[in-house]
Amino acid sequence: MDLAIKPAGPLSGTISVPGDKSVSHRAVMLGALAEGDTLIENFLAGADCLATVDCFRKLGIEIDGPADGTLTVHGRGLDGLREPVEVLDAANSGTTMRLLLGILAGQPFFSVVTGDASLRRRPMARVTGPLKQMGACIMGRQNESLAPLAVRGGRLKALDFVSPVASAQVKSAVLLAGLFADGETVVTEPYCSRNHTELMLEHFGARVEVSANSVRLTGRPVLKGRRVVVPGDISSAAFFLVAAAAVPGSDITVTGVGVNPTRSGILAVLQEMGADLQLLNQRELNGEQVADIRVRFSRLKGVTVAGGLIPALIDEVPVLAVAAAAAEGVTEIRDAAELKVKESNRIATVAEELRKLGADLEELPDGLKIRGRRSLKGAVCKSHGDHRIAMALVIAGLVAAGETYVQDTGCIDISFPGFAGVLKLLLER
Ligand code: S3P
Repeated sequence: MDLAIKPAGPLSGTISVPGDKSVSHRAVMLGALAEGDTLIENFLAGADCLATVDCFRKLGIEIDGPADGTLTVHGRGLDGLREPVEVLDAANSGTTMRLLLGILAGQPFFSVVTGDASLRRRPMARVTGPLKQMGACIMGRQNESLAPLAVRGGRLKALDFVSPVASAQVKSAVLLAGLFADGETVVTEPYCSRNHTELMLEHFGARVEVSANSVRLTGRPVLKGRRVVVPGDISSAAFFLVAAAAVPGSDITVTGVGVNPTRSGILAVLQEMGADLQLLNQRELNGEQVADIRVRFSRLKGVTVAGGLIPALIDEVPVLAVAAAAAEGVTEIRDAAELKVKESNRIATVAEELRKLGADLEELPDGLKIRGRRSLKGAVCKSHGDHRIAMALVIAGLVAAGETYVQDTGCIDISFPGFAGVLKLLLER
């Protein structure tokens, strides 16, 4: 499927975006391991989270829905999963595969996990390494660094793990395995990555202690089924926040967005770029901070983004590059080599595709340098099967002169079913 985009008039109106992808995955997983029912409201019915649901059904968990945004997981407790008779398919979802591996490492049965062509290229040694240290038996290609991966788990040893990368998927995989180990499992990372797993473990009754960049979990807790209301996904909202900041005359509000500080780096960066952005109606939902975000057009300027801020906006870099291309001056994004191992190599794909629209980008080993304010012009570009590249290119098309075609946009359903419809609403008002 292709999308055709014309230069936009102002965006206006109030919208909401679908539920947070990271929180939706974790609610299904912890719901499955909890005793009793977990009711998940505003569950993201995107392809990634549906892959998680499918895997847990194959592990013997009864799950009702999604229906009207709600999913009910009938948890069977920490020892309630059953040996799957089929291969577990994480499809395009790194979160499904890596977090699931942590859980499978603690199971006294055999299982195999695989994914689509993109996921089978992504690095898995970062999780299979620590999980093997905890005592799981894992087999896979290239020393367990690539899926398909076969796991025979069992009683695990607690681990004090120092991760070389700031990755919530690595941290979460080890913590989820730590649920099945006696004693305390500790994960320390170079910078604090998104903390949804820690917050949700606490919400379900586990003991979690956090200090600086370390998380400590006491093993073998009793988890209790809970109600989880999923905040709107800031990674989805980001596309419209950037569009409104960059298209003259725009004024939009996105309601009910998760603004957890470990996720909301894009807000700080847009503000530093000069965006007129306000957080309204701030509140808390099951431990997660939520707000309505109002953005009005203003002239943007280039910034440098690096270090500890990077994990808090890692998924927003493709659309941040669009904001940078529309801004006055130079933007540098550094310390972001992780972008190379996302759904596509996002340093390469962002540079290749935005150049087609006339943007001036330089690929750096750990990021991008963007010289802004080159007038963008419509072009034919492609998603590389990466949902966030597809949506970032659509937003670039709004600020480019002439028509832009984005090819292969079916992948948008991975994280944001209904994206084109929400954009249309903002453009019609
Ligand atoms: C995610 C963590 C991040 C992010 C991904 C979702 C999660 O990946 O890019 O989209 O839900 O834990 P890394 O942990 O690899 O940084």
